[in-house]
Amino acid sequence: QPPLRDLASARGIAVGTAVAAGPLRDNESYRDRLGAEFGSVTPEDALKWSAVEPARGQYDFTDADRIVDFAVQHGQAVRGHTLVWHLSLPEWLTGGGFGVTELRGILKTHIETVLTRYRGRIAVWDIANEVLAEDGTLRRGFWLDRLGPDYLAEAFRWARAADPQARLYLNEYGAEHAGAKADGLRALVRDLKAQGVPIDGVGFQTHVRSSTSLSELGDVMRHFAQLGVDVAITELDVRVPLPADAVSLGRQAEVYAHAARVCLSAPRCRSITVWGFTDAVSWIPDYYFGYGAATLLDATLAAKPAYHRLTCALAAA
Ligand code: G3I
Repeated sequence: QPPLRDLASARGIAVGTAVAAGPLRDNESYRDRLGAEFGSVTPEDALKWSAVEPARGQYDFTDADRIVDFAVQHGQAVRGHTLVWHLSLPEWLTGGGFGVTELRGILKTHIETVLTRYRGRIAVWDIANEVLAEDGTLRRGFWLDRLGPDYLAEAFRWARAADPQARLYLNEYGAEHAGAKADGLRALVRDLKAQGVPIDGVGFQTHVRSSTSLSELGDVMRHFAQLGVDVAITELDVRVPLPADAVSLGRQAEVYAHAARVCLSAPRCRSITVWGFTDAVSWIPDYYFGYGAATLLDATLAAKPAYHRLTCALAAA
């Protein structure tokens, strides 16, 4: 049976995964499966500000380089994640007491440095991540509070100038269903496009439970395609209550398959990325007490029902 990457590319999309730098370095079976199965990789943490620029002007690309080098060797695309986020910021930045002008310069330099380094190797970037509050207005957080709303348009413009070939995305969670957040996101993208801001795509993170129905995601995506941007599922995982049983893992499998069918049928859906591919390396148990088993493969890298159902969904004509 062909690997996910081949099934997906035959259908004109990519299937990717988040990659953690530690297991990539230390675990041969993790590496083998990653290289064989996925056509795209997203560094899970290695390109976040706290990892890349732990001290002002002192960049550390060790982990990011390892992931990008691996991807290039294995013919995988890379989704860069992420430049402008209110989390995983280093203390020197958040506690530095910088004024507006200096802080704008710091952000501009950071974006230029990181995009320029990976020009030609990272073709898609989550430029901004989680910029909206639940009610669909701009989220109060470090960048909005310090720089005001223009930071977003400026970040995209600086990114375009640094790497004109890269596809620049706005990445969000909780906009997978109709509601205030999806509406706010649509209004924001329309507004940015109207201002001529170079935004190429919108990412739907899609961190959901096995009881979630993704029945509205296709319609939501279609609305964004109508605005003239690409769309992608960027961080899919489907958590189940622990201990997992056959029923919940069966439901989980249906959600994975449904997500694939949505992307295959939505206009301009470019890729599905899962947020980790083994239950051994997943953020879910650390963040959601009582939940886990959220990925395609179990902790021994054996395929779960979700893997098989995803395979079927990608193979079905
Ligand atoms: O690397 C350090 C390690 O040295 C230290 O001993 C340990 C102690 O806490 O922390 C380790 O860093 C952790 C890092 O993951 C690597 O494991 C951070 O504390 C932890 O906060 C970080 O969590 C990441 C989280 O984003 C925050 O950046 C998760 O791995 C990552 O899966 C998660 O990913 C986010 C996306 O970027 C955006 N969308 C939501 C998604 C899930 O929260």
